[in-house]
Amino acid sequence: MNDKTFMAWPSRILFGCGELLSLAPLLQKQRFRQALIVTDKFFTDQSDIVVRLMESLASHGIGSVIFDEGEPDPSVALCQRAAERLSRVSALADIDHVIAVGGGSNIDLAKVLSVTLKYGGHPADYVGEGKIPGKPLALVAVPTTSGAGSEITPGAILVQENSSTKVALMDNDLRPVTVVVDPLLTVSCPPKVTADAGIDALTHAIESYLTCDSMHFDRQGLADPGYSGRNHITQLMAAESIRLCFAHLPTAYRQGADVDARIGMAYGSLLAAFSYANAGLNAVHALAYALAGLTHASHGSTNAVFLPYVMQSLLPVRERELAHIGSLAGLTAASQSELARKAVIATRDLVAQVGIPVTLKDFGVTKGDLAGLASNGLAVTRLVKAFPIQPPRQAFEAIVANAYAGKILTD
Ligand SMILES: NC(=O)c1ccc[n+]([C@@H]2O[C@H](COP(=O)([O-])OP(=O)(O)OC[C@H]3O[C@@H](n4cnc5c(N)ncnc54)[C@H](O)[C@@H]3O)[C@@H](O)[C@H]2O)c1
Repeated sequence: MNDKTFMAWPSRILFGCGELLSLAPLLQKQRFRQALIVTDKFFTDQSDIVVRLMESLASHGIGSVIFDEGEPDPSVALCQRAAERLSRVSALADIDHVIAVGGGSNIDLAKVLSVTLKYGGHPADYVGEGKIPGKPLALVAVPTTSGAGSEITPGAILVQENSSTKVALMDNDLRPVTVVVDPLLTVSCPPKVTADAGIDALTHAIESYLTCDSMHFDRQGLADPGYSGRNHITQLMAAESIRLCFAHLPTAYRQGADVDARIGMAYGSLLAAFSYANAGLNAVHALAYALAGLTHASHGSTNAVFLPYVMQSLLPVRERELAHIGSLAGLTAASQSELARKAVIATRDLVAQVGIPVTLKDFGVTKGDLAGLASNGLAVTRLVKAFPIQPPRQAFEAIVANAYAGKILTD
């Protein structure tokens, strides 16, 4: 009776090995004529993905302009620089859609460009929720990592100079309208990219599986909320994602050419994104943004280091779900509480197995940084409000202290 479900996602999703080349016929049928491809130098110097895409577009009557100066963790300044460079391109006026090729970083940069190229202004003008003036240029996302899930979300996450956390542009109109998930595009990911992105996917699945219920989520009166708490549909998707990530991430990390593992992670990432891009996230990401502000470590690694300690903090309020995560990871135990505790340890062990540090000390964080980390994490109120333990301060301080010391109480 009290269930309240709000879901938003792209209108076309193509999934499959080789599906990259199904994009151009679809765009042709939709009468698109001129693409801006947003990518980075890896894809123009060391990979044939962009060349194959451009040839396929051309053979379907679609022209393309490339911007290949994307960088990991795009900043507000990079987005502004990109808009200025593109303003000097003569074909700019004809561009009727943007295609992002790359990981979450290039997709986020493309999201911002899809707004600023159409409406002008500075990217910083649009930081926050619901600040974009109208529908952006149509955005197509072609993810080449299995993890970030930006191809489904309403957000673009940016580094802001002189800020202690990342900032976000949030609007359901920022969700790409078409997504092509071609697992073969992820085969070239080196182990560190696979690990960072893969743990990001697992974090999305677990964090959204454990988050605040949709019926209790504070939508702040928004008619078109970006995130709105977990619901029956997001729970189904998150659970299957958790199973797939535990099953496939170790192989994708160790043997990158294993296509079955890449397919498993591509589904795991997509399902996690469907879940969290509607249910939302909370403490892991809030603290990860604070840690990224302090250390500039990669997004996946900053999530990974907090994930087991946040799960541990939720044992008193989410034991049943944590036990289910244990069974999805293939574990068994004599009781629900034991299985829940085993799930925390298995998650910490998976993080270590893919070469990511499991304590804050390993990131060079000092004891003197801990209070600031907890406070900066708590300051990301759009995420913290969904943390299942309220008020959250004490739990956040304990998570940070345990993550610093590597203290899993259940060992
Ligand atoms: N908008 C959102 O909702 C959202 C959600 C999660 C993460 N993010 C953002 O996404 C970013 C992380 O994304 P990511 O983990 O996908 O990595 P990424 O996009 O930052 O890419 C990392 C590196 O991997 C390389 N790479 C990507 N695909 C490759 C491939 N197939 N082969 C070889 N190299 C490849 C890139 O060139 C880059 O150098 C962070 O900036 C994070 O803030 C955004």
